[in-house]
Amino acid sequence: MVKKITFFLILFLSIGVSAIEPGDKVENFRLLDHKGGSHELFYYDDQKALVFLVQGNGCPFARNAAPRFQELRDIYSDKEVEFFMLNSNLQDDRLSIREEAKEYGYDLNILIDETQIIGESLELSRTGEVFIVNPKNWSVAYIGAIDDRLTYENQKKEASEHFLKDAIDDLLAGEVVAVPRTESLGCLINFPNKYNKKSISYSQQVAPILLENCAVCHRKGGVGPWAMTDYNMVKGFSLMMREVIRTKRMPPWHADPFIGQFSNDRSLNNEEIKTLVHWIEAGAPKGEGADPLLGTAISQSEWANEEELGPPDYVINIPATDIPATGVVDYQYKFVKNTVGKDVWVKAAEVLPGDKAVLHHVITSFGQLETRGPRKGRLKYRERKGLRGYAPGINSNPYPDGGGIFLPADVAFEFQMHYTPVGRATVDETRMGIWVAEEKPKHEIFSMMILNPRIRIPAGVKEHKESATRVVSKDALLYSVLVHAHYRGKKMVVAAYYPNGTTEVLLSVPNYDFNWQTSYDLEEPKFLPAGTTLIQHQWWDNSAQNLANPDPTVEVTWGDQSFEEMLFGAYLMRDLKEEELPAYKTLVTKN
Ligand code: HEC
Repeated sequence: MVKKITFFLILFLSIGVSAIEPGDKVENFRLLDHKGGSHELFYYDDQKALVFLVQGNGCPFARNAAPRFQELRDIYSDKEVEFFMLNSNLQDDRLSIREEAKEYGYDLNILIDETQIIGESLELSRTGEVFIVNPKNWSVAYIGAIDDRLTYENQKKEASEHFLKDAIDDLLAGEVVAVPRTESLGCLINFPNKYNKKSISYSQQVAPILLENCAVCHRKGGVGPWAMTDYNMVKGFSLMMREVIRTKRMPPWHADPFIGQFSNDRSLNNEEIKTLVHWIEAGAPKGEGADPLLGTAISQSEWANEEELGPPDYVINIPATDIPATGVVDYQYKFVKNTVGKDVWVKAAEVLPGDKAVLHHVITSFGQLETRGPRKGRLKYRERKGLRGYAPGINSNPYPDGGGIFLPADVAFEFQMHYTPVGRATVDETRMGIWVAEEKPKHEIFSMMILNPRIRIPAGVKEHKESATRVVSKDALLYSVLVHAHYRGKKMVVAAYYPNGTTEVLLSVPNYDFNWQTSYDLEEPKFLPAGTTLIQHQWWDNSAQNLANPDPTVEVTWGDQSFEEMLFGAYLMRDLKEEELPAYKTLVTKN
């Protein structure tokens, strides 16, 4: 009996004690903060120390530790030390954390670990605790209390030991941290999934998530570099899968999940993330049951629209492009005369990649070509219109509401093509299929462009902001939004300023990735009353910390090439008809 009790006590205590220790390595991760900003740990490798306070709503210790933590942030503001709060609490979410931050005056970034997978791997145990990560070797340099001011139910007026400050000073002086570990008091964090990872079923839980969210690209002939053909393949790549999920590289989806709802949302939900990561951390066991990945080769007709609409009425051949085995290929611009031969209404358009492995995206525009000046032979910026482009997994469905796009006979197409070499040289011959309506469709769909060719991005800056606006002149419906920058693009926000004085954020892309030109298709078309101003904000990272940056030492201005930049958006819309207005007008009064 006595033995049993001591065993129980030890177990109980060991759950309560943080297991991450000084010297332990910290793996990379990416998290959004409570304001929707995106932070990747390894981005901060130019700093001397990264300091975290484990925050939790409602915990008196965390609250009491915060003022001193923020004081230290101010003291080290010009010392290349970055301060964060990190919330891994099961019970907290962005809204409640924002409220707590407001009430207690937190003005630093609170990273939210809503799936708990980061807190689990850091083996956090109590809120109120602080730790330092040394970016030189990604190891923990200190963990414990800020100082000795707080004890349970008690606090001293002044601290006599300043553990955290001393540790930062040691690190900045290039010395070994003299006291790398102290005991910290705080509220225990509940990680309920930490102890039952073994029970996750590959055949029942894991494989269905992969089929639903990954196999569209990770299949034979797909854009993904490897195919999820069976259990062995997945097991072999499982550690890499964990890494790309932790850093939010996969599935490729870059919109803030708190803003808007999109029908082509590729992201995993929190439960799916936990299932995959916990299964991998349990050793990716095969377990009982058949392998659902076997025999699931997705058979498809050549064109996605073929089943519903038959083969395309017209095919535009885009001139072939040689792609080398390795290196960087600048954006390719292909100009092709419209060969349809007459004015038509396009009811569906689809770009069919020649080589899916290398073709990352195509943005399709049409219009008149410049006849003189330095841009001779290129599309005029202002009057250009768009047709469906291409990105892996893109929606090429017929235009919404039975609408169509007017394509005059006398235009030229511009195809902006982005290629990524994959280790073998190839020739890409991509085509565009066009399906036309027999008569003028009920609605004319058009893409409204927002752009700002006057952007000027200073050399070396980590964050530079520019904006562009456009007033919607007639009552309209908005179907989808594509925001576009090149290698230095960092984040984007699109907001609507309605004529009644209210504002709505329609899209936020906190971690823009030039590799993925996603058009964000709104789940419900958005009513934009005449007089609405759409504003598109963009931020660029022109510093050396942006690993995609071709040259951090130059000022960058507008240009087609990927080493130049763009602030560009394409908004798929249609005007509303008189008789449709009453239904929408009642909607807007709610805004
Ligand atoms: C829309 C297409 C697409 C989807 C969906 C997708 N991937 Fe990928 N994946 C890619 C491409 C393309 C790459 C190559 C790297 C790149 O270009 O970003 C890749 C790379 C990877 C890699 C290797 C990482 C590297 O680059 O070394 C892993 C692992 C991976 N994906 C896992 C997943 C998992 C797991 C899912 C589903 C949860 C998923 N992917 C969904 C397209 C996709």
